[in-house]
Amino acid sequence: MKMWAGRFKQEEDSRVNDFNSSISFDSRMYRQDIMGSIAHATMLGKVGILTQEETTQLVEGLQQILQDIEEGKLTFDPEAEDIHMFVEAVLTQRLGTVGKKLHTSRSRNDQVALDNRMYLMDEMGKIDTLLRELLKTICDLAQQHTHTVMPGYTHMQRAQPVTFGHHLMAYAQMFLRDLDRLADCKRRTNVMPLGSGALAGTTHPIDRQMVCDLLHFDCITPNSMDGVSDRDYCIELANVIALIMMHLSRFSEEMILWCSWEFKFIELDDAFSTGSSIMPQKKNPDIAELVRGKTARVYGDLMALLAMMKSLPLAYNKDMQEDKEAIFDAVDTVKLCLTTFTPMLATVTVLKDNMKKAAAKGFINATDCADYLVRKGIAFRDAYKVTGQLVAVCIDTDNTLDSLPLSVYQQYCDAFGEDIYDAIDMTRCVMDRSVAGGPSPKSVELQIAQVRGQLAE
Ligand code: ARG
Repeated sequence: MKMWAGRFKQEEDSRVNDFNSSISFDSRMYRQDIMGSIAHATMLGKVGILTQEETTQLVEGLQQILQDIEEGKLTFDPEAEDIHMFVEAVLTQRLGTVGKKLHTSRSRNDQVALDNRMYLMDEMGKIDTLLRELLKTICDLAQQHTHTVMPGYTHMQRAQPVTFGHHLMAYAQMFLRDLDRLADCKRRTNVMPLGSGALAGTTHPIDRQMVCDLLHFDCITPNSMDGVSDRDYCIELANVIALIMMHLSRFSEEMILWCSWEFKFIELDDAFSTGSSIMPQKKNPDIAELVRGKTARVYGDLMALLAMMKSLPLAYNKDMQEDKEAIFDAVDTVKLCLTTFTPMLATVTVLKDNMKKAAAKGFINATDCADYLVRKGIAFRDAYKVTGQLVAVCIDTDNTLDSLPLSVYQQYCDAFGEDIYDAIDMTRCVMDRSVAGGPSPKSVELQIAQVRGQLAE
């Protein structure tokens, strides 16, 4: 018999129960549901809606349910529709009439909003920790490679010399912003909706601030209709997670390219790669590919949430039950990805010589050659043109700018001297890019220190 059976003359069709039920996915919020109920019961006792005796019975009954679930002694009943009904039904079964008093001044609408916010706050804490571990790994790896010269790319064409450390620290900035966005999202999620009731609050003299304090929220929701119908925090979190996934996906794509034979800049640890069932020689970057692939489902979760909320009239509508599978999937996916991606990165072997060889080809010091002429008093546009002509000569004669004889340089511009070779030396090119944010070892050291400083805050 359903808890709301009073108004109905007929039993619910079993297909409706299955369709309506959310317990298969909202049971994961059991802890938050019970903690919320304990705070609610405590408050009801404090303001005199319940006697102290009743409050104690309820609190102890709820604690027992929590313990029984955690010890596997109590399993979720699919008939219970959702986690809120389940806990209340077990409580009433065990305590009798007093169990029926728990729901005074409360609705599942404010209850689910509370549970969901509490659950997501906990999950954001975990994502925060995982992001910090990734950032630490990036900084440690970058620290080892402040002198590891590699080509920087634009349009996937070799462009200018950078270092592997510099390249890695670009990702550190992305994940640092993600951390900041997460903190921002936490701030708006950390608001306590209980007391909003179904939508119009309650006539009982409850103390919302007390519940807020007991559950360590920052403040209470200021409007009861908004309190039960706001899912912005889910959408914001899905958006933060989508961005984390986007960053992980770009990083993964580069890892995939870098460990291909065409690049061979890195080699993945055996423990973090997979083989092929038919090709004996294969060592595949499955993890990075899966992270890239799973980014798509998180984008889907974000879109599902946005579309689900679009045009919903105030206040609660059952559509909103769909929020949980989407946001839980996004949360689970990003945690799974971070948990695997970080150790994969930490155990990578960096093939410095191959990076250096790639840097030697592709004329990535051409800008430095033009800059050299600028320092000799030539206008940049003219210097640019001369260098372009020299690159064309190199291509025709199978040379690099480093191996081109000085006599050839001087045929195109008499400002060239013996010191051109020093000016276009790859290491020198990196060293000289000591501008703030640039790839010189000093600049990158500074970037690492800044990120580490922010992580320590
Ligand atoms: N299982 C529901 C959900 O997730 C709980 C709220 C139900 N409220 C209601 N009035 N039917 O949204």
